[in-house]
Amino acid sequence: MFEPRDAPYPELKKTHTMAHKGRPWTDYKPPPAAPVWAAIEGLGRYYILLAALELDVFDTLQRIGPSTVEEVSEALEAPVDHVRSLLDGVVALDLLDQYRDVYELNDTAKRYLVSDGPATMADLIAVAPGPHVNWTRLAETVKNGRPAEPIEDDPAAFYVPLVEGTFTTMFRCATRADLKIRYSAIRAPRILDLGAGGAPWAIAMLNGCPDGTAVINDLPGVITVAERKIDEHGVSGRCELRPGDFHTLEIEPSAYDIVVLGHICRTEGADGARHLIARAFEALRPGGRLVLADYFTDIERKFNPHAVIMGTTMMASTQKGFTFTHAQFSEWLRDAGFTAIRLIEPIGFQQSFVATKPAVPRSVRL
Ligand SMILES: C[S@@+](CC[C@H](N)C(=O)[O-])C[C@H]1O[C@@H](n2cnc3c(N)ncnc32)[C@H](O)[C@@H]1O
Repeated sequence: MFEPRDAPYPELKKTHTMAHKGRPWTDYKPPPAAPVWAAIEGLGRYYILLAALELDVFDTLQRIGPSTVEEVSEALEAPVDHVRSLLDGVVALDLLDQYRDVYELNDTAKRYLVSDGPATMADLIAVAPGPHVNWTRLAETVKNGRPAEPIEDDPAAFYVPLVEGTFTTMFRCATRADLKIRYSAIRAPRILDLGAGGAPWAIAMLNGCPDGTAVINDLPGVITVAERKIDEHGVSGRCELRPGDFHTLEIEPSAYDIVVLGHICRTEGADGARHLIARAFEALRPGGRLVLADYFTDIERKFNPHAVIMGTTMMASTQKGFTFTHAQFSEWLRDAGFTAIRLIEPIGFQQSFVATKPAVPRSVRL
């Protein structure tokens, strides 16, 4: 009986040559351990990047230009050998360039990692995975069906830094979404932004619509971020801040041209997401449009690892959070009464459903 040996790969067997068997390699090809190492290294990769940010490596290299490790260690006031080890780690992540003894910013670092980069994610990196302690207790969370420290226990502590960190990306996304949605073609839209964070969607839309007005909602401890951002962008005079829980907040029916649900459905579970979609439908005028931004998984939940792992991240740190498939959201939107449902991707990895509340109610349509 054939019993596969646990052979290293590739292994040339002396008796197993082209002359003897027609091909030189063992039949049994063990799978590589690379995915296991990738998982192990994932932790190190994340903390290498985090340490580099905490030590201001990227901003320092932007300020002093291409530099030797001695120059960087002097600027960081840290020992040379430790700085070299960290910088080499960052090079291994493809987030810095290195030539011999000289390190410099690469294009990725210039765009995403320096604090004033055009698409900076520098403030997002520490907070994006959720409270780190929850990852160390993931098995317990899966068993209990509840995280050790759900972010809902102290939402402001988690969301204030998060929405500061995501603002640049979401604002770029919302601004570019105009190319697909043409919100700027609406003369004086009334906008409702639920769970607005720093209100990147409302601000981008108000920038595009000089006569537009917006109602901006978030939790009482978080809405201060929106308050500051609308002020910085010079649109506060056209905004009403409406703090409260988006599930119970008072919302005028049939009053809005655009309702934004920006990255709020994935913490709410299926029922919560459907409730928010229903609330958006109710709030829109006939002909008004919903913009629902989130991370969506494919129908088999495996071809878009970014959205899949975002779902696990939600499970790790929220009471009800999971990501859902495009198909589930499409169905929920249709069930709520929306038509003209489409998916846009204004910038890479940032998708939104856009859907219209029909001018003629479903009961009257043929
Ligand atoms: C991931 S952030 C999204 C922020 C913004 N909409 C965007 O697209 O960038 C989720 C926001 O929802 C807010 N939020 C969470 N639960 C809420 C609730 N029950 N009522 C109102 N806002 C809530 C959080 O405070 C946070 O600002």
